[in-house]
Amino acid sequence: MTRLESFAGSVWPPPLAPADQARATEALEAGQILYFPTLAFAIEPEERRFLADGWSAAAKNISYDPARGTLGGTKAQGEDAAGLMRLMARYAQASQALIEAAIPIYRGRLEMARTSFRPVEIAGRASSPRHDDTKLHIDAFPSRPTAGRRILRVFSNIDPQGQPRQWRVGAPFAATARQFYPRLPQAVPGSAMAHAVLGLTKGRRRAYDHYMLKLHDAMKRDESYQQDRGIETVAFPVGSSWIVFTDQVAHAATAGRHALEQTFHLDPAQMKHPERSPLRVLEGLAGRELV
Ligand SMILES: [Fe+2]
Repeated sequence: MTRLESFAGSVWPPPLAPADQARATEALEAGQILYFPTLAFAIEPEERRFLADGWSAAAKNISYDPARGTLGGTKAQGEDAAGLMRLMARYAQASQALIEAAIPIYRGRLEMARTSFRPVEIAGRASSPRHDDTKLHIDAFPSRPTAGRRILRVFSNIDPQGQPRQWRVGAPFAATARQFYPRLPQAVPGSAMAHAVLGLTKGRRRAYDHYMLKLHDAMKRDESYQQDRGIETVAFPVGSSWIVFTDQVAHAATAGRHALEQTFHLDPAQMKHPERSPLRVLEGLAGRELV
């Protein structure tokens, strides 16, 4: 069995026929990874220098904020910083075009968030258990509550040494949420307000964000879950791209370097099947509204 739904095409964005768009929409919202094995994001000759070591100032990512036009996590200055920013801005636009080509109903409904360039090798990278993304998890970030909005990400492997990006992919969200929900600490009324007042989070943390964070932590901590027999190992080769709801698909990145990633948010009401969103699944388990 595979959790990859594959699509042909090497022109960016690939022209998808209506039947392929319908297949992509159903697969993505069901928690599959839309996989484009021959869709390479082209690096311009003058951008090749950014694939050498030494640009990163952070343990993990160089990040670009398209809304503010700011770059973080890099030692690049002046012309270099401007060039790096152009590369990442181009990836942000290309990612949006790719999603819209695959899932036309999301057109005009995607909220563009951060772009990230991940030059650092994952394997052997030190991190605390909670930040260890080599453990299977769904995405939820303490400083960035989404209030139920989806986290949709586009990835491309651009490694010049030809190393694949290795992932492990877990069971569907609803089953995992059912398994973990009974042991998650309940949301405490009032804690969201305290976080916002203290300036710890961008936006108010809702009960939904609480449960997603606790689920993220519980998954990473549970060693028997990490060894589940249903986990699939995937290698994304250089020159491939993929689209995935990382708030829904349990994933772990175990090896690889030089990936580009673009994040979008999407209101679950804009999905073809909103009932498959983590928000609706968790609300079903909680028996109440969580935002
Ligand atoms: Fe993740």
